[in-house]
Amino acid sequence: MNSIPKILLLLLALCICSAESAHPLGQFCNSDTNIKSGSKISANIDRLLSALISKTSSNGFTSTSYGKGKDKVFGLAQCRGDVGSTDCTSCIQDAAKQIRHLCPNEADARIWYDFCFLRYNNKSFIGDLDTSFGIFYWNVANVTDPKTFNKDLGALMDEVRKDAVEPKNEGLGKGDTKVSPFVTVYALVQCTRDLAPLDCAQCLATAVENFETFCSNRKGCRVLYSSCYVRYEIYPFFFPLNSNNDNKADTLMAIVYP
Ligand SMILES: *[C@@H]1O[C@H](CO)[C@@H](O)[C@H](O)[C@H]1NC(C)=O
Ligand SMILES: *[C@@H]1O[C@H](CO)[C@@H](O)[C@H](O)[C@H]1NC(C)=O
Repeated sequence: MNSIPKILLLLLALCICSAESAHPLGQFCNSDTNIKSGSKISANIDRLLSALISKTSSNGFTSTSYGKGKDKVFGLAQCRGDVGSTDCTSCIQDAAKQIRHLCPNEADARIWYDFCFLRYNNKSFIGDLDTSFGIFYWNVANVTDPKTFNKDLGALMDEVRKDAVEPKNEGLGKGDTKVSPFVTVYALVQCTRDLAPLDCAQCLATAVENFETFCSNRKGCRVLYSSCYVRYEIYPFFFPLNSNNDNKADTLMAIVYP
């Protein structure tokens, strides 16, 4: 853990929260982008957010901009590809509200939920691969048979990563595999839909490289970047959901670092 450049936040949370929780998994308010008083950026962000809310529900993704010249702002909102439009809309609405609350003075702000991701900036970022800031969640519980588990998880990850870069899948890959008669591991990866397939592959590779540091032998783990989301669990967590959630009570650790 000493190799981590700068730990901003370390928290231990007993998470019995359901998937539709309105609490964000994390946010990034870039303090280098404080909005100068008198600039139109704030007003433009509000208009941009309205556009993101109204346009994202129909297909789960929007990238757009609002305003002119030095006050122009760029925005992106995306739901996870397996999430239905009702959950998507309410996630984007929560995100738009919370991001202004949590990052009231920053021109560069990002917010992560399990169901969606939203960001804006006064500098264009659409189509750019970005793994500069990451949030990692892991289950403190370890698997009992790491050797088999890691082998099967690695194979599953390779498969879902391959699916995510197929253009027809719009950045989404998901699947599951049985690691023992009693344990099934579920994995999902999602790139933002503005990324080219090669950049998507690169983002997912960077996330999986971090497994060794944060996820090693863990029963579940999540990596959240501005360009992609990677998660695995030993219970089903993506749609279509079945009701078998026996393994669901997790004690999660989260770490956020730039
Ligand atoms: C974005 O806004 C910040 C804060 O007002 C400013 O310092 C920066 O130059 C702006 N960047 C661009 C690309 O306009
Ligand atoms: C899981 O393994 C890690 C690393 O070996 C260890 O530090 C941690 O205490 C283990 N967790 C539990 C709940 O036993």
